[in-house]
Amino acid sequence: MSSGRRSNTTVEVFEQAASSYDRTGVSFFGPLGVDLVRCASVRPGDRVLDVGCGRGAVLFPAAEATGPTGRVTGIDLAPAMVALTTEDVTRAGLAHVDVRVGDAQQPDFPPGSFDRVLAGLVVFLLPDPGQAIRAYGRLLRPSGRLAISTFAAQDPAFVAAMDALAAHLPADGPRPAPSADPFADDKAITATMTAARLAVTAITQHHVESRFRDVDHWMTWLWSHGARALLRHIPADRLDAATTDAARALEPARVPGGGLALTTAIRVTVAVRTPGAADPEESS
Ligand SMILES: C[S@@+](CC[C@H](N)C(=O)[O-])C[C@H]1O[C@@H](n2cnc3c(N)ncnc32)[C@H](O)[C@@H]1O
Repeated sequence: MSSGRRSNTTVEVFEQAASSYDRTGVSFFGPLGVDLVRCASVRPGDRVLDVGCGRGAVLFPAAEATGPTGRVTGIDLAPAMVALTTEDVTRAGLAHVDVRVGDAQQPDFPPGSFDRVLAGLVVFLLPDPGQAIRAYGRLLRPSGRLAISTFAAQDPAFVAAMDALAAHLPADGPRPAPSADPFADDKAITATMTAARLAVTAITQHHVESRFRDVDHWMTWLWSHGARALLRHIPADRLDAATTDAARALEPARVPGGGLALTTAIRVTVAVRTPGAADPEESS
């Protein structure tokens, strides 16, 4: 699959998910957004760019941290995400925040525009993550920081349940092309940052426990985010059987009194511009 096509498909998935994204009563994106902003040490008065802002899990804590003397700009390629988050920003009366359609692969701002560039659970979705990270470095002021979050480990029950769903995909349907993961572990992340002329200052792991009333609630949550990319390829007449198989795989996640609990580990990486390493493209 070409990188352009991959990007279009990704954005289409989030466009369809936008109205329910992070609105299904499941604690997941919210606490991770707060962690990302805290790790980035966003300060009052900072100028912040939030790439792939979605429904604002990073944007709103960043806006609180900068306060009205700062400025927070969110960009997302899915127009529905931008429209709904803009409504939320307006409702909250945040005059120092704006949200616009923009590409996280190559954000269109002058070099040195921001004190902080934040990317919550988005860089691994991009056609060329290494190039994107290099672009974020160019957007930082000399003392600026980049903070990104990426997946470290999924709950084993989640992995088994997703495998159970994937077993119902048509044999001739689209399959993700195998590729090297530039965020697979601390070593790979450090190499990705170094290649982008950035120096890692910290990589920390954060765990979030997500609770679900039952398997139907878990499926509703899947439809509300990137997992929709898999679900939408399961033929409608196989969805019930796929859900039954996923329910079986989720049994180890059942908690006393009913419901399910899944724990996800996320890495937050903070990086700064490498001192003295000017990017030749910066002046162009
Ligand atoms: C998993 S969500 C994360 C949203 C938010 N940062 C959060 O933590 O909840 C990924 C977001 O990135 C957006 N996205 C995907 N590819 C993008 C691109 N090339 N440019 C801008 N946004 C993109 C999607 O539309 C979606 O809103």
